[in-house]
Amino acid sequence: MNRTKILTLTVVSAVQLAVVPFRAEAQGASLSTPQTEQKIDALLAKMTIEEKVGQLNQLSSGSLTGPSSVVRDGDALIRTGMVGSLFNSVTWKETNAYQRESIEGSRLHIPVLFGLDVIHGFRTTFPIPLGLSSSWDTDLVEQTARVAAQEASSQGVRWTFSPMVDIARDPRWGRIAEGAGEDPYLGSAFARAYVRGYQGRRLDDPSSIVACAKHFVGYGAAEGGRDYNTTEISERTLRDVYLPPFRAAVGEGAGTIMSAFNSINGVPSSANAFTLTEVLRNEWKFQGFVDSDWTAVHEITLHGIAENDEAAAQKSFLAGVDMDMQSAAYLPHLPDLVKSGRVPVGRLDDAVRRVLRIKFALGLFERPYVPEVVDANPTEVPASRELARRAAEESFVLLENRKVAGFPLLPIAPVAGQRVALIGPLSDSAGDMLGPWSGEGRASDVVTLRMALAPRLERLHVGLTVTQGMNAAGSETSGIAAAVEAARQSDLVILALGESGHSSGEASARSRIDLPGHQEELLEAVVATGKPTVLILFSGRPLAVEWASRNVPAILMAWFPGLQGGPALVRTLFGEAEPSGRLTVSVPRSVGQVPMYYNRLNTGRPRVDPIGLGSTKSDPYYVSGYIDELNTPLYPFGYGLGYTTFEISGVKVSAASISASAVNAGRAQLTVNANVRNSGTRVGTETAQLYIRLRGTSVARPVRELKGFKRVHLEPGESSQLAFNLDREELSFWNLDMKNVVEQGTLYVWVASDSSVGDPLRVDITE
Ligand code: BGC
Repeated sequence: MNRTKILTLTVVSAVQLAVVPFRAEAQGASLSTPQTEQKIDALLAKMTIEEKVGQLNQLSSGSLTGPSSVVRDGDALIRTGMVGSLFNSVTWKETNAYQRESIEGSRLHIPVLFGLDVIHGFRTTFPIPLGLSSSWDTDLVEQTARVAAQEASSQGVRWTFSPMVDIARDPRWGRIAEGAGEDPYLGSAFARAYVRGYQGRRLDDPSSIVACAKHFVGYGAAEGGRDYNTTEISERTLRDVYLPPFRAAVGEGAGTIMSAFNSINGVPSSANAFTLTEVLRNEWKFQGFVDSDWTAVHEITLHGIAENDEAAAQKSFLAGVDMDMQSAAYLPHLPDLVKSGRVPVGRLDDAVRRVLRIKFALGLFERPYVPEVVDANPTEVPASRELARRAAEESFVLLENRKVAGFPLLPIAPVAGQRVALIGPLSDSAGDMLGPWSGEGRASDVVTLRMALAPRLERLHVGLTVTQGMNAAGSETSGIAAAVEAARQSDLVILALGESGHSSGEASARSRIDLPGHQEELLEAVVATGKPTVLILFSGRPLAVEWASRNVPAILMAWFPGLQGGPALVRTLFGEAEPSGRLTVSVPRSVGQVPMYYNRLNTGRPRVDPIGLGSTKSDPYYVSGYIDELNTPLYPFGYGLGYTTFEISGVKVSAASISASAVNAGRAQLTVNANVRNSGTRVGTETAQLYIRLRGTSVARPVRELKGFKRVHLEPGESSQLAFNLDREELSFWNLDMKNVVEQGTLYVWVASDSSVGDPLRVDITE
């Protein structure tokens, strides 16, 4: 065990913390009590300034998840109380050993908080978050987060740097894989689900881990989709689009927030007093602590608003960053900044109180160590494995399923004596199935598509030819001939194409969003054989597969499905599982359409007015569009097919008009009812989506906004009555005066199967 890979830090600032219930708005219990605050007071009274600053110092103790920087003797730092948190240690042996240094070796015996990027599972790797979000199933996500928490906490990891709740409207940005897509309402629902799953009912339950909503804020709006890049976001867009999932996480009791790398309108997020102090602390009353992203404090110097690390420490700390991850800026500089009065001691005490509060809430003072665990493989726990399989099944989005010889190509039913060709670089690539940020996930635990398909076909006496065709980068074409030959000799082709597992995630922006390298040639050559072809796409971002959408009868978006991807795919291909995923990101036709998102504003010269309102333009030329491309996406937000069909009908709103002031006062709300019927011949799951549009308001509102969704599982012919509520939360927005209010105007309401279809009902919103 290498225990000397450690680190650094430091910085500044002030604001007295009132003792208020930690989970002001959460459903669960308060995370701090007056008794805890008294214990913190007692501890603070004993601490030197250096020891206080030590609590704000976070170092990587294991495999690095960012550019390596300062590496020092960790044990010595811990013994002098100079380390508040370590991250990247993943075994109970290591976390306990470090903990012993602090509990037995340091003067005040304050436990270390161990963190890790537990993003979509610890050892049991679930689909990437973008895939998980495609389930539109918040209970499922909560369960995956719970399993992740149990596995991580058993090794002493009590803090995850998750959920990533950044709204992403640009598929070039590699980190789109880590979030829940482009919509703030859906993103908020998933933010809450992750927090509930990680933090459990009580944080002091040894199997709970504290969540960290990241990256605060606007990181997904990086210009050009280039990671870490600058953003320009108006305050209204910030509040309407980028802040809501963070607000939701805080409301659910998330204990920590990570400040982002990007600058917003010229001010780095990690030194941004408006977002960190005014919004997060003053408006939202956040009582947890803010951690910087990896070296983000130091990076203030590179952004150019600080000349050196001392100034960076001062600016970040005063703005509201409590803990410094990896910058080595707080530890050396904050004590002098406080002693010289450039940082108020009250701000130092505030930050330390926040950190200690989380440590107390987790029960770390009572139980700093984790019990020795037998090194069993948690992925062998049947319930976890089953959950991983179900999560993968629910994440798949069926994009196309055209008829071949009179029947939809999927599900397949090959018969004895036939032959299947499994072609493509992702057919049997265990490591890639984990996707980015797979933590402790191991390729050796993965069941690939080939591994699951081969025994199934063998039992059916169906032949199988497997050929890779090319690598995932698509860098050579020599395997295409063999792939074409395999297709020719078969009755059915399954093509497994897409990106490698690390083509998305941090620092993995792409300037093209089509199939990598020569994969398109492989695809077109195989399809040219005329054999029925199912295309399974693996990727961490939407891929612009226009040709495939027109020429391949069946396309299934599988994202990176995690450990049980193979069995989940085989069950889906054979119809034992129904694809029920719906896109949480729009799929563009070409990269030139980016940024692409459904909840856009309308312009004065729309090409097609989305609800045929207010547009009298008949001129086809002077409109907002491209001369060489449509405006519409290849596949819209909310879209996904199944093996059955559904009808949504009987949409009704409880009133034809409603008073804005009554809604603002919480005295009125609308109920929307709709009937969903399974009109096909197989069981299936529909996700009914409620959208609104507001007109006649003081600022322009999006052409549609998601404000409700419900998953319904229905037998053939079965119907279900759905009811949605629209109240202040759904109908308010940030108006001309930057007030969050419901305004007089007209409301249009859809209940639809995706963001591009349906007929709206109209409701007048009176004064
Ligand atoms: C990433 C964060 C991550 C941190 C710690 C950074 O590079 O941006 O998302 O939590 O590293 O690994």
